[in-house]
Amino acid sequence: MIEKLHQYKEELEKASAKTSEEIELLRVRFLGQKGVLKELFGVFKTVPNEHKKEFGKQLNELKNLAQEKINQLKTSTSTIEDAHGAAEDLTLPGNFKELGSRHPISLVRQEIIDIFAGIGFSISEGPEVEDDWHNFTALNFPEEHPARDMQDTFFVENKSGDEDLVLRTHTSSVQVRIMEGGKPPIRTISPGKVFRNEAISARSHCIFHQIEGLYIDKAVSFADLMQTLQYFASEFFGPNAKIRMRPSYFPFTEPSAEVDVWWGLESESDYKITKGTGWLEIMGCGMVDPNVLTNCGIDPNEYSGYAFGMGIERIAMNRYGIDDIRMFFENDIRFLRQFKSAF
Ligand code: DAH
Repeated sequence: MIEKLHQYKEELEKASAKTSEEIELLRVRFLGQKGVLKELFGVFKTVPNEHKKEFGKQLNELKNLAQEKINQLKTSTSTIEDAHGAAEDLTLPGNFKELGSRHPISLVRQEIIDIFAGIGFSISEGPEVEDDWHNFTALNFPEEHPARDMQDTFFVENKSGDEDLVLRTHTSSVQVRIMEGGKPPIRTISPGKVFRNEAISARSHCIFHQIEGLYIDKAVSFADLMQTLQYFASEFFGPNAKIRMRPSYFPFTEPSAEVDVWWGLESESDYKITKGTGWLEIMGCGMVDPNVLTNCGIDPNEYSGYAFGMGIERIAMNRYGIDDIRMFFENDIRFLRQFKSAF
């Protein structure tokens, strides 16, 4: 009988079940209701008393061994099964993961950032809820000044009432924060969302995106501004891009200009896009007004600088031939899918 016990022990030690099913079979064979151990415990009753001690010891050892073996097999196979996943068939196709795409506004914003970052501009940001000082007053829009009407403003109710808060109408507010907070030379661009209380149509929206540029140093001139913008245009629109500057007015720059890029006048859509001129307006710019420098703690006798601001939607609409600004905000998957993947 003892001989038989030894055989069972050997069998257990050699057992190598690989799947949960095989382990279960082994368990039933040794520990099941009609299993080996049950049978041996039955035999135990019939063993003569003088052998009971030895047989009982061996029997318990066999039982412990069976339990240990099965537990050990269970842990090792479950880690293997976890690692391979439940599907054992490695030839099955993988799970397809749909990749998202970047929003066209993000694509254009990044392209513009990369161009300016490449010539030493840092990237800065400011708050979307802004105070009157940074959005208007410091930028030379005195209270009651009619230029404030150029931009229809959303006012933000604020409980303390200490200061007037607005949703920033332009990213020029970030200029003020940067100049207040740092010393020249300053060379930065500030991308961000802006808000205007305007009727929503195919051409205008109450939320849109701008990129502001600011360069302050000793002896910065209008020629530097022109060179930088020409460089930007040739990087963004292609090496043959032509720009022109038209005199304009902004309270925070003197002189001020609007910048047009040559679009062409060949097709009917060129006529539409450029209103029959062939030129596309892409941004406002100018030399930072000495009043603004003073307001921000920079001595206009020592420093000068230029600033510019462009709308990202307008540029993205032209780049991708989108004729309705509302498309950018609708999150229609059929629209978004057409743009470059994020990876
Ligand atoms: N802030 C102006 C706007 O939203 C754009 C602008 C014009 C920004 C001239 C500038 C600038 O920095 O110099 O219409």
